[in-house]
Amino acid sequence: MGTKKLYIETYGCQMNEYDTDRIKNALDAEPTDDPKSADIIIVNTCAIRDKADQKAFSSLGKFKSRKANDPNVIVGISGCVAQLYGDKLLKKIPHLDFVLGPRAIPKLPDIIARIESEKRRTVETSYDIEELFEIEPYHKEGKVTAFVSVQQGCNKRCTYCIVPTVRGDEVNRDLNDILRETNNLVSKGVREISFIGQTVNSWKKDGHKFGDLIRAAGEIENLDRIRFTTSYPRDITKKMIDAMKDVPQVCHHLHLPVQSGSDKVLSMMKRTYTRQWYVDTINRLKDAIPDITISTDIIIGFPGETDQDFQETMSLMREMEFESSYSFKFSPRPGTVAAEYSGEDIVDPQVASARLSELQAYQKEITETKNQSRVGKIEKVLVEGESRNDPEFLSGRTDHNRILNFKGPKDLVGKTVEVEVKEGLLNSLRGELVV
Ligand code: SAH
Ligand code: F3S
Repeated sequence: MGTKKLYIETYGCQMNEYDTDRIKNALDAEPTDDPKSADIIIVNTCAIRDKADQKAFSSLGKFKSRKANDPNVIVGISGCVAQLYGDKLLKKIPHLDFVLGPRAIPKLPDIIARIESEKRRTVETSYDIEELFEIEPYHKEGKVTAFVSVQQGCNKRCTYCIVPTVRGDEVNRDLNDILRETNNLVSKGVREISFIGQTVNSWKKDGHKFGDLIRAAGEIENLDRIRFTTSYPRDITKKMIDAMKDVPQVCHHLHLPVQSGSDKVLSMMKRTYTRQWYVDTINRLKDAIPDITISTDIIIGFPGETDQDFQETMSLMREMEFESSYSFKFSPRPGTVAAEYSGEDIVDPQVASARLSELQAYQKEITETKNQSRVGKIEKVLVEGESRNDPEFLSGRTDHNRILNFKGPKDLVGKTVEVEVKEGLLNSLRGELVV
């Protein structure tokens, strides 16, 4: 297997990026960026919205002629679209060799071996995989940030969401396992860990709660920064806030999806909190950690969303002034409760688009203003590498998760330095190293 070349394309969330790295390790193949030279081609897919599905299918289409010219190349689909459609995909996509659900990654080496020996197309989407966390991700040498998965699946069942269907019920990982993987990464030079899970702060295991996990991670030597995503508002407890406050490595930024500012819509989404509860929670966080910044997710055009409901979302945006937000038009997903709505409950697509544009324009203004307000401030930056757009610049993130680019020597990578902000742009900051 060792000499095989693996090309893998990744769509979707951090969990998928993490799974991509697990697939790389599972196969012990050499990762390549060039699909033409690859022996194994995998598209790791996302099913969260309709467009994500479409992207995955068109991505697979690109490899049709490659497979026609070289029947020995193995083409597979993994991730949530694979789980959702299963063996239907083999019928729909004739050049596909395997379909692999997100929980089945530990089975991949066997699947590949079987395809090679028996030339048989395979579907593996079972849930009852015991070795769920067994394969740890591939780590690129020199990378100073890394994800560590603490949880698979989700128990919340928001009515619009396909994640519980495709990733199954919540399964939490052993504390020792999480700490071992984290320690291992730190020994390879990683300085910032992001714990990831669909509702990461719901993590609990063997009597330990999420706050205990943060405190335990805070004891790890040479781990400079701790982040985690995505938090679920209702599971923010006093214990968690206290741990965030007490552990100095915890970054002062929290991604806390609210989805809507209307109680009616929140209740239809089954989000289990009210707008006021969400606001109060953020206030509790700010009381404990005054400089904390918050980002969020919003869904626009959920069935039954009236103009009044949308205005309530806009008023929440104004009240909260989120650091940034990801906003999406509601997309009905197969098998979810919210996909059952029809008739006059459906928000006219043009109305939804107009609402989305209004919200995004407002957010853009806020984000830009917030970025500009940081000019003159000195920020601590963990240097991650060269800037993607301009190799003259180094790039890293501030404690508040803003990208900050500045000029400096390459040997600063992996170090935390002080940078004075000189310019606030929409998606990043620019500054000068403080010496
Ligand atoms: N628990 C994870 C994954 C949720 S999916 C997390 O919170 O990050 C990420 C975001 O996609 C959600 O917060 C929601 O805003 C959006 N989303 C999920 N399902 C959607 C749907 N059917 N239509 C539109 N947006 C959706
Ligand atoms: Fe989806 Fe809600 Fe879980 S958004 S991932 S069902 S918390």
